[in-house]
Amino acid sequence: MAIAIMCSGGDAPGMNPAIKKFVDYVYEKGEKPYFIYDGLEGLIDGSLKEASYKDVAGIIHLGGTIIRTSRSKRFFQRSFREQAYENLKKERIDSLVVLGGDGSFRAMELFYREFGINFVGIPTTIDNDIYGTNYCLGVDTALNVIRDAIDKIKDTASAFNRAFVVETMGRECGYLAAVSALTSGAEICLIPEKKFEKSSAKKKLTNEIANGRKYLLAVVAEGCEASRELKEWIERTFGFETRISVLGHIQRGGNPTVYDRMMAASFVTKAVDALLSNERIGKAIGYKEGSFEFVDIAEVAANKYQIPNDILNALEHLD
Ligand code: F6P
Repeated sequence: MAIAIMCSGGDAPGMNPAIKKFVDYVYEKGEKPYFIYDGLEGLIDGSLKEASYKDVAGIIHLGGTIIRTSRSKRFFQRSFREQAYENLKKERIDSLVVLGGDGSFRAMELFYREFGINFVGIPTTIDNDIYGTNYCLGVDTALNVIRDAIDKIKDTASAFNRAFVVETMGRECGYLAAVSALTSGAEICLIPEKKFEKSSAKKKLTNEIANGRKYLLAVVAEGCEASRELKEWIERTFGFETRISVLGHIQRGGNPTVYDRMMAASFVTKAVDALLSNERIGKAIGYKEGSFEFVDIAEVAANKYQIPNDILNALEHLD
C-alpha cells in the first residue's frame, strides 16, 4: 500500500519543506510516496502520481506548494467523496497526510468516518486557528512577513508624523494581529477576542501625545472588520493624519523561516510514523509546550481554538 500527501485550503509557507520531508522519509521507510495535486479537488478528479526525489529537489526554501491546493465545495457532497475514495483505491493508497486548516480537517473527518481512510492532519495555516495545537505550520513565516512590513510602515509613519492602521489576515482569529502588535510596538490592537476600550485608549494616548508621541501604530485583525472605523476615530480623537494598510496575501508568501522548516520535518515524521504503525488512525497532530500529541479529528473539528491567556494578558497594556 502507498501513502499520499495533499495540501488543502489556504497555502502556508512550510508546505514545501513538509512535502520534501514526506518524500524523503517515506522512501527511507521503504514505502511509496504519492502526491495528490490541487487538494481535495484533485483528489476528486484523480490528480495523483507517485512522487520522486526529482520532484522535491530544490523546494525546501520555497513558499506556496509545488503540489498546489484548493478549497473544495464538491467534497462536501457524498457522491464526490465516493469518487475520491475510488481514486485512492485505484492507486492502492490507504493513508493520507493532509496539510491544511480547519475546513480541510472537517472534510477529512467526514472522509475518515465514511470510508475509514487512515489519515493524519498537520495543522497548516497562517491563521493559527486550529483547536488542539498551539502552533500551525506557516505562522512563524507569516509573523515575520508582517513584522518586516510593519517595520517599514513605521519608517514612513515617523517621517510624516502619521498614524497607521495595519490590517492583518487571520479570518475570525486574532492571533496574527495580537502577536504582531506585541512584537512591533503597536499602541493599539484590535482582535475579535477582546473588547476595544475607546475611553481608556483615548486617555492613555492623549497623555503619551502630550508627552511627545509623534506617530501611532494600530494593528487590526481582519475579523474585526473595523479598520476604516478605527482610522476615522484616530483622526477625530488625536488629529493624526491616518492611513490604512491592508497587508493582504503577501502574508501567505515568502521563504519559510528556519523554524517552519524544522517544524515541517517534525510534523511530517510524526505523521508518517503514526500512519505506518498499523493502527487505524484519523487524527491531527497538535504541538503544545514543546511536545507533539495526536488529537482525534472529530474533537478538532468540533472545537474552536482559543488564543492563550498569556498573549491576551500581554495585550492588556495596549489599548
Ligand atoms: O486561511 C488563510 C487566509 O489567508 C485567511 O487569513 C484569509 O481570510 C483567507 O485565507 C483569504 O482567502 P483567499 O486566499 O481565498 O482570498
